[in-house]
Amino acid sequence: MIIGYYDKTGDQQIRARWQQLLQTAFARPNLARPNLARPDLARLNLAGPDFVALDSAAGRHADIALVWGPPAGLLASCKRLRLIISLGQGVDHIMRDPDLPDTVPVCRLVDPDMAHALSQWVIAVLLDHLRDGPAYREQAAGRVFQQRPQIQTLDLPVAVYGLGAIGRVIAERLAAIGFQVLGWAASQKSLPDIACHSGPAGWQHCLQTARAHICILPLTKKTENLFNAKAFAQMPKASYFINGGRGRQLVEEDLLAAIQSGQLAGAALDVFRTEPLPEEHAFWLEPRITIWPHVAARTNPETASRQVIAAIEAVLDGQLPANLLDRTRGY
Ligand code: GLV
Repeated sequence: MIIGYYDKTGDQQIRARWQQLLQTAFARPNLARPNLARPDLARLNLAGPDFVALDSAAGRHADIALVWGPPAGLLASCKRLRLIISLGQGVDHIMRDPDLPDTVPVCRLVDPDMAHALSQWVIAVLLDHLRDGPAYREQAAGRVFQQRPQIQTLDLPVAVYGLGAIGRVIAERLAAIGFQVLGWAASQKSLPDIACHSGPAGWQHCLQTARAHICILPLTKKTENLFNAKAFAQMPKASYFINGGRGRQLVEEDLLAAIQSGQLAGAALDVFRTEPLPEEHAFWLEPRITIWPHVAARTNPETASRQVIAAIEAVLDGQLPANLLDRTRGY
């Protein structure tokens, strides 16, 4: 079996870790497996899979593609693919390829470690804003020891947009530290301690009620440009916006205008329409926007590989893996 790997960030350390984890997992003799007689599995168990760059000559023969941000056409050029696995929770970086083969199953990661990391990032940036971190850091730089009024955060309404595997963990943890949490999702959810909403009326209600707005939505045609001037205008004045979803869900000029007019107090952003964020981008010059380079929840190969191994095993056994992309839904 050949595993083809492609990560547009080019991080060699992470690549080496994936290679080690997958080769070790599949090289381990597993005598409990009933179907060792199958030639592909037998080869696997003896030697471990080949782990190659998907965009190399050897990659053309890959059975499994493990990818983040593959260039358009690369997946289609690998004619033997039996499974495409996203190296992230999102699959938009795969879906945007116009030549994506439509017969090969695509699966995404759903790793509790990422929900944990992303929820901590949301809590960190939200509390930093609400507890005046930027202002106190500025004061400290000038050795100014001066108290500012403390914002009352108990029962402060905050909205989490997207209540999937990550969004619901964020919502639950925000509720646990005393926020009044509203949640919005495309389909109606029911979660203890969260006021769940869906549909256009629920969307309006969340926009109009919450003082902080946290986007964790998957990127689809329906969620593109959702956070725009019209949405910001409905939020209570001086609301805070947090984007841990995707850059394309935000109309960047509209956010800048909303902050500069005082309608929004600021924003913390981990994702951008163009990544890396270009040097000349106006966001760099706006101190009320905190910029994170897509690190709120980096994929952890140690935990995520369990799911990747299970998905490969499922395909080798002729089964469909878990967390398959639903192409009509878009995630
Ligand atoms: C990160 O953005 C991911 O999709 O996992």
